[in-house]
Amino acid sequence: MQPTTTQLNTPYFMIDESKLIENLEKAKRLKEISGVKLVLALKCFSTFGTFETIKPYLDGTTSSGPYEVKLGYETFGGETHAYSVGYSKNDIENVKHMADKIIFNSLSQLDAHYDNTKQSASLGLRINPERSQAGQDLADPARPYSRLGVKQSLLDLSVTDKVDGFMFHMNCENKDVDAFIAILDHISTTFSEYLDKLKWLSLGGGIFFTYPNYPIEKLGMALKNFAQKHQLQLYLEPGEAIITRTTDLVVSVIDIVENDKKTAIVDSATEAHRLDTLIYNEPASVKEASANGIYPYVIGSCSCLAGDQFCETQFDAPLQIGQKLHLLDSAGYTMVKLNWFNGLKMPSIYFKRVDGSIETLNSFSYDDFKATLGKS
Ligand SMILES: Cc1ncc(COP(=O)(O)O)c(C=O)c1O
Repeated sequence: MQPTTTQLNTPYFMIDESKLIENLEKAKRLKEISGVKLVLALKCFSTFGTFETIKPYLDGTTSSGPYEVKLGYETFGGETHAYSVGYSKNDIENVKHMADKIIFNSLSQLDAHYDNTKQSASLGLRINPERSQAGQDLADPARPYSRLGVKQSLLDLSVTDKVDGFMFHMNCENKDVDAFIAILDHISTTFSEYLDKLKWLSLGGGIFFTYPNYPIEKLGMALKNFAQKHQLQLYLEPGEAIITRTTDLVVSVIDIVENDKKTAIVDSATEAHRLDTLIYNEPASVKEASANGIYPYVIGSCSCLAGDQFCETQFDAPLQIGQKLHLLDSAGYTMVKLNWFNGLKMPSIYFKRVDGSIETLNSFSYDDFKATLGKS
């Protein structure tokens, strides 16, 4: 029998298929306008139980490490792009038979693996355009001394004898189409002699084209014109844009304590289940909160880390122990970063299908926790 939401034990992620399809329809429109191909960035979202829904809309996957290559190849299919900041010889042996494209992060990596990969895949090189729209320094690929990609001053045209494509990734949740187009123009001008010799170009992820009222047509036309000008197949590597606003992390209030402020302690932790809340200091939004509520609370984690909290917000009524709270927009960079810190219960993962049924994609036990630490 299918569970109903009231029967589910917290904590859990609930992925909503209808909302996912809304984003995917926007992705489809962008593809139709621009001719761009879209590969899902598995680093953001790898929950393969949803891939049957996503597959008809996207062209494949891209990865940031060897196991993601395998996961994309096995569970998604289409084009499998392999990128890593650093491949060992062993990594390359493992991925080269699965990857259609292998993108190296440096000239030394390209040299090290060129002979071993040139037959099996179309090779690419990550370039650092020294421009970005990334918000926070921690996530800025063009930050000073960045190790991500090769700067133009280190390149010469002979590199195009070895690679068919370049990859640029320089945006993070960029909602500003004009800011993106300015970077695109910069790339078009600065790298034109390279681009004219390449077959494909990936412009990475971080373009928030599914954000409400984002001008998809304007983005699509800019990409189309760029591709025509340089005679390239363009790719984007969206992660967050595909799964944004599709998923709640549902938690229960376990205790309420007071130390000048009231804190509702919930059965989850940012450090274990929603790590970016902590590392980027980006508070979660709670569905049950109310902008004009008169009952303020810190929504505090169940971990031992003193500063571990989801957010501060307010409600129309006092919170009750046992009450469920929905932490909104919890799909991206969450499930891929889950860890067992403090031996907390790992959130189950559910998929609410278009017909309203709830599919269990995974649930975890003490044995899973123990298995990460050794063999019994
Ligand atoms: C190379 C590359 N491609 C794609 C992405 C996906 O970005 P987003 O999830 O913001 O779309 C990232 C994110 O860090 C990335 O580093």
